[in-house]
Amino acid sequence: MNNSEIQISTSVLVVGLGGSGLRAAIELAERGVDVLAVGKRPVGDAHTSLAAGGINAALATMDPDDTWQQHAADTLTESYLLANPITVQIVTEGAAAGIDDLVRYGMPFTTTEDGRISQRFFGAHRYRRTAFAGDYTGLEIQRTLRNRAQQVGIRMLDQVYITRLLVHENVIFGAYGFDLYSGTRYVIHADAVILASGGHNRIWRRTSSRRDENTGDSFRLALLAGGRIRDPELVQFHPSGLIDPESAAGTLVSEAARGEGGILRNALGERFMERYDPQRMELSTRDRVALAAYTEIKEGRGTPKGGVWLDVSHLPKETIMSRLPRVYQTLLELQLLDITEESIEIAPTAHYSMGGVWVRPEDHSTGVEGLYAIGEAASGLHGANRLGGNSLIELLVFGRIVGAAAAEYSTTLPAQQRSAAALAEARSEVDELLASRGPENVRSLQRAIRNTMTDHAGVVRDEAGLLKGLTELDGIEARIADIGVHPDIAGYHDLAHAFDLKAAVLAGRATLEAALERRETRGCHNRSDYPELDESLQVNLVWSGPERLEREAIPAIPAEIAELMGDVATEGKLLE
Ligand code: FUM
Repeated sequence: MNNSEIQISTSVLVVGLGGSGLRAAIELAERGVDVLAVGKRPVGDAHTSLAAGGINAALATMDPDDTWQQHAADTLTESYLLANPITVQIVTEGAAAGIDDLVRYGMPFTTTEDGRISQRFFGAHRYRRTAFAGDYTGLEIQRTLRNRAQQVGIRMLDQVYITRLLVHENVIFGAYGFDLYSGTRYVIHADAVILASGGHNRIWRRTSSRRDENTGDSFRLALLAGGRIRDPELVQFHPSGLIDPESAAGTLVSEAARGEGGILRNALGERFMERYDPQRMELSTRDRVALAAYTEIKEGRGTPKGGVWLDVSHLPKETIMSRLPRVYQTLLELQLLDITEESIEIAPTAHYSMGGVWVRPEDHSTGVEGLYAIGEAASGLHGANRLGGNSLIELLVFGRIVGAAAAEYSTTLPAQQRSAAALAEARSEVDELLASRGPENVRSLQRAIRNTMTDHAGVVRDEAGLLKGLTELDGIEARIADIGVHPDIAGYHDLAHAFDLKAAVLAGRATLEAALERRETRGCHNRSDYPELDESLQVNLVWSGPERLEREAIPAIPAEIAELMGDVATEGKLLE
C-alpha cells in the first residue's frame, strides 16, 4: 500500500477539469494568480465534452428582437419561479461577453453564410438563442478552454481524486486527495478552493452521465467542509435518453434533434405532445416533455422496450449530417441504427442537478471562507426546470466572476491558518478505507443506490416511495460499513469508487429528504400525492445534513424582467 505524500502549495485550487473549472482557472491565470486545477478524469474527456446541442445568449443574430431581459424572463418563467433572479440576471446579461470570450479563445461556432454565429431553437425559448457547433458544442467548448488553459500555462493534474477539503474554523486552506494510479497522496495547500466537480445525476439507473462522473462528490465535499446544499430534489430528467444497450442506458439524444424539427410519437403513432402542450409541442419545456413521455409509457402506449419514438428521418440528410452528427454517430455505434431512415426509441434520463451547493448569487462564495462552487456543482440559475443551453453559458459567465472573486480573496488574505487535526482526519479516512476488507462490494452498493433512486425518486414521486427510499438508503449505509477496498496493479480506482459511493449515498439522502419536504408538483418535481403547485413552497430548500432542512426566501424579480415573463403554466401536468 502506497501512503507516501506529496505537498503542493498554490494560491487557488480548482477541483474539476470540466468547462467551469477551466474557465475559472483561466481567469485566475490571466490575472497573474497561481492556480492548480485537478480532476478525476482526463481533461479532454471531462463531462462538459458530452454537452451537445448548444449554449444560450441573446445575440439576436437570427431573431433581432431578442434581448438579455427576455432571456432572463424565459429562464425565470420556466424555472417555475425557483431560480434566483440575481443569478439569472448576472448570467443572461453577461452571456454575450461569455460568448465573446469563447470566440477570442478560438471557439469554432457554426455560422451563417454571412459569418454570424448561427442560433437554433431550444425548448421554451421565445427566440432562437442557442449557439452551437453541430451537436458537439460542449466538446468544442472543452477543447477551446483546454487550449487556452495550456496557452496561459495552467498546471493541470487529471488523475487526482480529492477526498476532503481542508478547513480550519470555517476557513478553507486546501484539499487532500490521492493519485488514481500510484495511490500517492496529495496535500494541497491553497488560499481558496473552487469546487467545479459536477452534480449527482449518476445516482439514477438511466442517466446521461457516464460511470464514475456526477456521483455527488461536490455535495459531499462541500457538506463536510461546512457548506450546504440547495434544492437537491430538483433533478432534470431529459426527455430523450437511449434505452439500450443496457450498458449505455440513458445516453443523451440531444434536444437539438427536436430543435431541428424532430417529432415524438407513441407506439400508436400519435404525436402525443398535442395532448400536453399543443402550442409548443416537441419544443415544450423539458419537464413537460419528460413527463409526457413518462405518462405515455405508464399508460401503455409505449414502445416494446418501454419508450417512445423520436423521429428525424423526415429531415433532409444534409441537416442531420451537419446539425446532428453526434446523434447520427451515436445511434450507429450503439444500435447500428440509421436515424436518416428509422426512428429512435427513447425514454427520460436523469440529466442535470438543478440544485447544488448553496452559493451567494453575486460571486458563488459558499459561506465557508475561501470556498466557491460553480457549474453543475452550484445552484441558483435553474430552479425547477432548466432551459437547455443555459448551463454552458453559466459556466462561462460565472467562470470569469468566480475566478476574479477567488483571485481577490487570495491576494488580500493576510495569512493562511492551517489545522493539523483537519489534515489528520483526511489522512485517516483514506487509511481506514484502504484497510477495509469487508465482504460488501462497492459496485453492487452503487447499483443498489441507483435502483433506490430510480424506483422512488424518478420523474414521478410520492410520500410512500420517498420514505421507502430513505429506509433502503439506511440499509445501504449500514452495508457500506462492511465494504472491501482492493487497489490493484492497475491502480487505486477501487478507492475512488468507495469515495464515490459515500458521496452518492449522501446525495441520495439529501434528494429524498428534500423531495419529501416539497409537497407539491412544480417543474421537474412531480408528486402524485400533491399534484398542485403550492404557492407557499415558492422557496428554495436548503439541506445541511440528515433531517436538517430549511426554507429560504427567493428575492423579488426586477420589474423590467417581470413584465416580459409569461404565465407559469401548470395545465398538461400529471395527466394520468
Ligand atoms: O439536449 C441537449 O443538447 C442538452 C443540452 C443541455 O442540457 O443544455
